[in-house]
Amino acid sequence: MEPLLDIRDLTVSYRTPQGPVRAVDAASFAVPRGEVVGLVGESGCGKTTVARAVMGVVPRSAEILGGPVLFEGRDLIRLSERERRALRWREMAFIPQTAMSALDPVYRVGRQIEEVLVERGGRSRTVARARAAELFGLVGIDARRLDDYPHQFSGGMKQRASIAIALALEPKLVLADEPVTALDVIVQRQVLDVLKALQARMHLSVVLVTHDISVVAYACDRVVVMYAGRVVETGRVAEVLERPRHPYTMGLTNAFPDLESAAGELVPIEGSPPSLLDPPRGCRFAPRCPFAQPRCTASEPPLLTDGEDHAAACWRAEEAPALRIQAAEAATWRR
Ligand SMILES: Nc1ncnc2c1ncn2[C@@H]1O[C@H](COP(=O)(O)OP(=O)(O)OP(=O)(O)O)[C@@H](O)[C@H]1O
Ligand code: SF4
Ligand SMILES: [Mg+2]
Repeated sequence: MEPLLDIRDLTVSYRTPQGPVRAVDAASFAVPRGEVVGLVGESGCGKTTVARAVMGVVPRSAEILGGPVLFEGRDLIRLSERERRALRWREMAFIPQTAMSALDPVYRVGRQIEEVLVERGGRSRTVARARAAELFGLVGIDARRLDDYPHQFSGGMKQRASIAIALALEPKLVLADEPVTALDVIVQRQVLDVLKALQARMHLSVVLVTHDISVVAYACDRVVVMYAGRVVETGRVAEVLERPRHPYTMGLTNAFPDLESAAGELVPIEGSPPSLLDPPRGCRFAPRCPFAQPRCTASEPPLLTDGEDHAAACWRAEEAPALRIQAAEAATWRR
C-alpha cells in the first residue's frame, strides 16, 4: 500500500550570514498509514527542519531544494499557500517543539481547542464546546479544566492539551516535535501512552521527533535515524534497535536510559556533530566513529537496504554483527 507520506530527497538550506546551512540533505523516508515513525538524532541534525518542511511552516530564510514530498500522492512542496492552509489541521497537524508554544498563555485552554474547531473546522460554537470536552476526555484531562489557563496546567497536561488540539479535526498525520522532552520519565510514558492509544484508535500516522532513542523504543513502529542532515539508518524499530547496522545508531542505543527498566551504564558518543556550513567529506560521522577507516572519509556511503526493510548508510554495514559486539563495550567509545 502506498505510504501516507513519502519524502524523497528532501533538502532544506538556511541562508545565514556565514553562508548556506544545509540542515537537511537529500533525506528520504516514508510514513505508512497507521504507523508511528520516530525521527531521531542529536540536537541540530535537522529533525525539526524536516517536520516544518512537511508542514509548510519553515522560516523565510529556508530554501527547500529537493523533493517531492508526497502526501497521498500530492507534492506538498509545490502546493500554493492556500492549498497548504486547507491541509493544515484538517489533514495534518503539528505539535511544535517548544512544548508550551502550542498553547497561547493568554487564552483559556478549552477556548483554544474551540478556536481550531470553529475557525479551521467550520464547527458551530456549541458543537465545538462539546467536542473540546470530548477531546479532553480522550487525552485524560477532566473537562472541568477547560476553563483553565495554560499556566494552571502541569507540563504533562499541557502536552496532552497540545495533543487534543492537534487531533481536534481528526487529521491523518500528526507531526509531534519532541512532545515529551521537557517531562520527567513517568510523565513521558503517560503522555506517550495517550498518544499511542489515540493513534491506534484513530488509525493515525505519526512522525514523532525525538533526540531520545528510548522514546523511539517505547512508542514507535519505525525509526529514521538522522545525523548531520542525512538519514543514516531506517527500518522497523524492533529490528533497528536490536540489530543496528550504523555505528551512530549503535552509539545512541548506549547513550540513553531505557524508559521501562532501570538504566545500565550510559556511554555518551564523544565529540559533537559537524557544522552544517561545511560538513566533512565522506561519512559525516567519521570524526566520531570508533570504526572509521580511510575509505570512510574518501566518499560518502549511500543509504542501502539489507534486502529487507532495513537500510543503513555505512561502508561497514555488512560487518555490523561484529561491530555491534565492539560497540557494546564502553571502552570502544572512549578516546
Ligand atoms: N532559522 C534558522 N537559520 C539558520 N540555521 C538554522 C535555522 N534553524 C535551524 N538551523 C540550523 O539547521 C540545523 C538543523 O536544525 P534543526 O532545528 O532542524 O535540528 P534538530 O534536529 O531539530 O535539533 P534539536 O534537537 O536541537 O531541536 C542546525 O545546524 C541549526 O543550527
Ligand atoms: S562509514 Fe565508516 S565512519 Fe561512517 S559510520 Fe560507517 S564505519 Fe563509521
Ligand atoms: Mg528540533
